[in-house]
Amino acid sequence: MSLLFPKWMNVLPTVAAVGGLLGATSVVGAFWYYATPKFFKVGYMPVQPEGGFNHQIHAGKLGMDCRYCHTKVETSAEANIPNASTCYGCHADGKLVKFSESEQHKAKTNFIREAYASDAPIEWRRVHKVPDYVRNFPHNIHVNAGVSCYSCHGQITGMPVVYQAQSLSMSWCLDCHRNPEAHIVPRDKVTQLQWVEKHLAERATGGSLAEAKKLLEAVQANPPQNCGACHY
Ligand code: HEC
Ligand code: HEC
Ligand code: HEC
Ligand code: HEC
Ligand code: HEC
Repeated sequence: MSLLFPKWMNVLPTVAAVGGLLGATSVVGAFWYYATPKFFKVGYMPVQPEGGFNHQIHAGKLGMDCRYCHTKVETSAEANIPNASTCYGCHADGKLVKFSESEQHKAKTNFIREAYASDAPIEWRRVHKVPDYVRNFPHNIHVNAGVSCYSCHGQITGMPVVYQAQSLSMSWCLDCHRNPEAHIVPRDKVTQLQWVEKHLAERATGGSLAEAKKLLEAVQANPPQNCGACHY
């Protein structure tokens, strides 16, 4: 026997097993890495059309409420992007007297008046997108349950250009669905992102959790975990 099969061959099954395992691990690893977009989606910040839209100025410094522009966020699944006429309301020629006198401001906001005059939409580039095999993501249900834009989009009031702050992966959705009390805020604070950031940071260190549980009971939020809730 030992002549036909030299002794070193005894280790072959082990080598094969270990090698197989490593191979399988790297295949799974590669699949997991490439199939789980969180590694390349967080921080995604497409270049917006020239002139752009600055949330830090409008929602931060000027303190405009999100719903002034994202008017349907409480009533429909989709959070709409405003059209040029919403912008034109302030950026019509001569309207912002103090600002519109400056040539620099005029140059930066000309694209709004052009879009308004020609009735052509401004081609904003989409930032957040779940794959098509995920059912219509419902903004209204989340917002009405007291989940702030902050929990899913980050501190928008500090973003000159919007980027993706969260992975939007399935485990990210489910982490919150399992422990929503970390995120529920009073309904009237949902769009007050700076208040929410401060409040949730306190909660993470143990503050106001009891309050959060009460809020959760009051809205009777029941986040689903069954596949059919999010997939066809
Ligand atoms: C004056 C109008 C206006 C206000 C106020 C406003 N937004 Fe926006 N928002 C826009 C426009 C225009 C875009 C598209 C351009 C862009 O992505 O920067 C946008 C894009 C976004 C996006 C990215 C959409 C995508 O493509 O995925 C998010 C998220 C968002 N807004 C959240 C908010 C939140 C949260 C607030 C309140 C704190 C807010 N916005 C206030 C006009 C507004
Ligand atoms: C409620 C009034 C109001 C609305 C509505 C509004 N803006 Fe403005 N916007 C301002 C004011 C005021 C400034 C000047 C702020 C500053 O420079 O401090 C400004 C500045 C800007 C600037 C120049 C920013 C810079 O970097 O200096 C751009 C570009 C702009 N807005 C685009 C938009 C677009 C696009 C929309 C629509 C989605 C919009 N605005 C809606 C009031 C508004
Ligand atoms: C529970 C998480 C969550 C909350 C809360 C949330 N969003 Fe979103 N938002 C998303 C996801 C996920 C998408 C991508 C949806 C898709 O692809 O259908 C998105 C997309 C958007 C878009 C892009 C829509 C488009 O058609 O281009 C805007 C604008 C937006 N959200 C604004 C808001 C605002 C404003 C709030 C708060 C009032 C808010 N969101 C609250 C998760 C959330
Ligand atoms: C930060 C917390 C949070 C995140 C993140 C979150 N959800 Fe939710 N979701 C909730 C809560 C709370 C409810 C329960 C609302 C209720 O019962 O009124 C809910 C309910 C739902 C529902 C049920 C709607 C219905 O008809 O009752 C769907 C579908 C859903 N979420 C999809 C998603 C998807 C898809 C994602 C990820 C892209 C996601 N959610 C991320 C908190 C979250
Ligand atoms: C709360 C919503 C939600 C629930 C519940 C849910 N999914 Fe998902 N699922 C998602 C989202 C969002 C994605 C897209 C992930 C991405 O883009 O990274 C996804 C992706 C997937 C994928 C693609 C592979 C991947 O990870 O990218 C599969 C397969 C899947 N889900 C199966 C299931 C099964 C099976 C169940 C039930 C046990 C389930 N899902 C329950 C939201 C959900």
